[in-house]
Amino acid sequence: DPAEQDSLKRAVARKAVELVQPGMVVGLGTGSTSSMAIEELGKLAQNKLKDVQFVATSYQSRVLSRQFGVKTMDLNDVNHIDIAFDGADEVDSNMNLIKGGGAAHTMEKVVDSIAKHCVILVDETKVVKTLGLTFPVPVEVLPFALAPVLRALAALGGQPEIRTALRKDGPVMSDLGNMIVDVRFPDGVKNPAELERKINMIPGVVENGLFVNVAHTVLVGTKDGEETSVV
Ligand code: A5P
Repeated sequence: DPAEQDSLKRAVARKAVELVQPGMVVGLGTGSTSSMAIEELGKLAQNKLKDVQFVATSYQSRVLSRQFGVKTMDLNDVNHIDIAFDGADEVDSNMNLIKGGGAAHTMEKVVDSIAKHCVILVDETKVVKTLGLTFPVPVEVLPFALAPVLRALAALGGQPEIRTALRKDGPVMSDLGNMIVDVRFPDGVKNPAELERKINMIPGVVENGLFVNVAHTVLVGTKDGEETSVV
């Protein structure tokens, strides 16, 4: 039930922002869970949290930040990221992730992977044993290279599909002006590290949504009977 899922996301967002200390540089992920974290950070920024700098990973997180009174910096104007908060589409027991359901994984991977502490926020429906069984791997592709990239993805055993959206004719274009190809792997992703590397080796691929060894902490919102807890 989506309302219940939202309350789990809210609980992890509240818990996560407690990790922010004065003076930190904070990376802001994209998606509905990250949006809640941005809202919670906005509340903190108005009272006790002073001297904190923020870096957004998408138009969405930048616009929301402004709306919640959080001023963002360009990544090139900060020299590190202390902590990054981000959502995920799937998380496995090794804290490897599939991201990119919102087409923002390229900028997210840059920010999340340089963060000294990368904190992933999910509700319990996102936790899986094997990545990719239900969620495809999103791949951001240069429009110029679409056809050869589709062939190369199929040669890796994937079933690539160009992402479209309900209220947009033609392909979805990312914030960076590229296309998104969702690649299904019917048997799941057995070796996420290897597949992440192989996909990114294809010329014309900008970035894929497998995040391996990026997350340091995963906060999972669970419904324990009537209790919402974060583990
Ligand atoms: C954005 O492209 C994704 O990586 C999101 O982080 C992911 O889709 C999670 O989004 P929700 O928090 O909305 O599920």
